[in-house]
Amino acid sequence: MRKFLARGVAVGAIALLALTACSERSDGDGAGSTGSEKGFAANSLIGVALPAKTSENWVLAGDLFTNGLKEAGFQSNVQYAAATSTVADQQAQISAMVTKGAKVIVIGATDAAQLTTQVEAAKQAGAYVIAYDRLIKNTKDLDYYVAYDNFKVGQLQGEALLKGMKAKKASGPYTIELFSGSSDDNNSAVFFDGAMDVLKPEIDKGTVVIGSGQKDIKQTATDGWKAENAQRRMDSLLTSTYSSKTLDGVLSPNDTLARAIITSVKGAGKAVPVVTGQDSEVESVKSIVAGEQYSTINKDTRNLVKETIGMIKELQAGNEPKVNDTESYNNGSKVVPSYLLEPVIVTKANVVEAYANDPKLAPLTK
Ligand code: BGC
Repeated sequence: MRKFLARGVAVGAIALLALTACSERSDGDGAGSTGSEKGFAANSLIGVALPAKTSENWVLAGDLFTNGLKEAGFQSNVQYAAATSTVADQQAQISAMVTKGAKVIVIGATDAAQLTTQVEAAKQAGAYVIAYDRLIKNTKDLDYYVAYDNFKVGQLQGEALLKGMKAKKASGPYTIELFSGSSDDNNSAVFFDGAMDVLKPEIDKGTVVIGSGQKDIKQTATDGWKAENAQRRMDSLLTSTYSSKTLDGVLSPNDTLARAIITSVKGAGKAVPVVTGQDSEVESVKSIVAGEQYSTINKDTRNLVKETIGMIKELQAGNEPKVNDTESYNNGSKVVPSYLLEPVIVTKANVVEAYANDPKLAPLTK
């Protein structure tokens, strides 16, 4: 039920969605219509607009899309938003894809709430729009969402934090700090809510204490998902709160920020607490193997891109792509039909098996 509420879901969404989907696709002017049948030409242009390279998963995704779309017979145009003026840059890239006649535009949004106009233009031009990894808000013109289950990611992070602290110290109270991602990314709040779903009962009981008292997502946010912002906040928390107190754990939403937090703590000459992460970044996997970062999440980018390309192939063939969630992601204008993949928690205990089939990461675990 908490999961249900956490993402703001309309009651009766499934039935409503089914009806909407039918009427949209059967009236002949649905997105992607070529005039004859549903679907579009097999060698059509597919646009992929990714955010700035704030973590390794985005770097990987670009290459996987370029190669995978080519293999599937499509033409592709894969773009990244620049590190500065990211929003304007991404808006311009999407508009250019629409102008070039892309039949599907896959978007990893830089700012969830700033793409309404571009998504509407895409739809009007007859393109399908798929939100990739990050939801796009406030538009009824978004067709699908494909991502790892973000709420589950947060829950796994919360559970790992508790487990890691217990392994070090049998009983509480445990003192922690909370970090969350960039507030313009819809995922940030979902990760945070998932983690709090697990941590809040412990905080209410007093087994877990937030040392600084900073528990509001506005206080814990990390602008632009930037390492330097997390490091700066950790530096000031250490000064304000931990001159004599021990910090047992830190909820970090991803690996880039986890390493920045660890750098800060080490710089202050303190023992490294239990720190969570996400993304299976090379340096974090090494750190887990070395016993420093406690956990990460495996959201294999290869599978996410594969699912997305699978969806594009279905659309090309004129079929309705399969989704497995029609209630969790209300973007403010509609409940977006979603395909969610299962994230996997990784700690030192399962690092070998977790990456056994990943040629890049497996050698790091040996
Ligand atoms: C992704 C994470 C990533 C973060 C920063 C999120 O939207 O889901 O995997 O760590 O963005 O790039």
